[in-house]
Amino acid sequence: MSEIVVSGIRPTGKLHLGNYFGAVINFLKLQEAHDSFFFIADYHSLTTHPTPEDLHGSVYRVFAEYLALGLDPDKCTLYLQSDLPETAELYMFLNMNAYKGELERVTSFKEKARSQPDNVNAGLLTYPVLMAADILIHKGSRVPVGKDQEQHLEMARTFSNRFNRLYHTEYFPEPQAFTFGKNLVKVPGLSGQGKMSKSAGEADCIYLDDAPEVLNKKIMRAVSDSGPSEPGAAKSQPVQNLFDLMALVSNDDTISFFETQHQSGTIRYGDMKKQLAADMELFVAPLRDKIRSTIENREQVAKAAKHGAEKARESADKTMKEVREIIGFRKFY
Ligand code: TRP
Repeated sequence: MSEIVVSGIRPTGKLHLGNYFGAVINFLKLQEAHDSFFFIADYHSLTTHPTPEDLHGSVYRVFAEYLALGLDPDKCTLYLQSDLPETAELYMFLNMNAYKGELERVTSFKEKARSQPDNVNAGLLTYPVLMAADILIHKGSRVPVGKDQEQHLEMARTFSNRFNRLYHTEYFPEPQAFTFGKNLVKVPGLSGQGKMSKSAGEADCIYLDDAPEVLNKKIMRAVSDSGPSEPGAAKSQPVQNLFDLMALVSNDDTISFFETQHQSGTIRYGDMKKQLAADMELFVAPLRDKIRSTIENREQVAKAAKHGAEKARESADKTMKEVREIIGFRKFY
């Protein structure tokens, strides 16, 4: 049986290098090998921000960025969640068989309930149900997501199995995580901590459309340390991060040059960062150009979104006809 891949993308702003080596690269591979559905999860964004500042702008931006980076409307189905209102109907049906107790136990819900105590809304509670609807609307069997989504995926399996059991059918598949295993690359941020992330601050992230000066400045200001205490000393975390970033964009000779310098205790981080900034610029420049030109090309983006919406609706339409039939909604006419 062929795999149907489904994944949602939160419209949380500009893509950074970590997103590129994570979701983007993986999606590019998946679209070559599977029937893949990728969508911007704009309904989901209302669960935390019911009155978003610029919903259209942020959704447009992420959509255009993924398009620019190579998601191909002819190879995959790239669309907006809100272009598929069938999802909302399936969400409603699934909600009838989703229980308050199990939803309240979801870690992400508990965290959000704590961080936004004045807005513990029903959409937040049923976030995993909407996510299950996103997947099941295409009868998705594979879901490429990060570790943070494992519990949500587990809930999707619960809702899928429960539907099948309650309505005496084997209609929905049991969606499984798509694990990339060893292929996952490490992309640390610039602040000397863990992986690149917006929550670590703007200075932690190299955005794919950062202007050359901005990119240079961020890298030159990246956290390092006061230098190896003696020849052969182990690397501190911030310095290891710089080497990890270098491994992504510099050639082998450059990397071993600085490795040797670190080993001998003579390294000057200013020189290393200068080299990293130059190599990073070479890597980012074509991506930046593509992103900027795609964002400006409203016609191309509109055409892609329309094509994606049509393909997605064809799939969703079929599922919903069958789901209504299974539950017992039949026309009198
Ligand atoms: N919850 C996912 C995230 O925060 C986004 C998402 C929404 C999703 N619907 C989905 C991912 C369906 C996979 C499948 O990243």
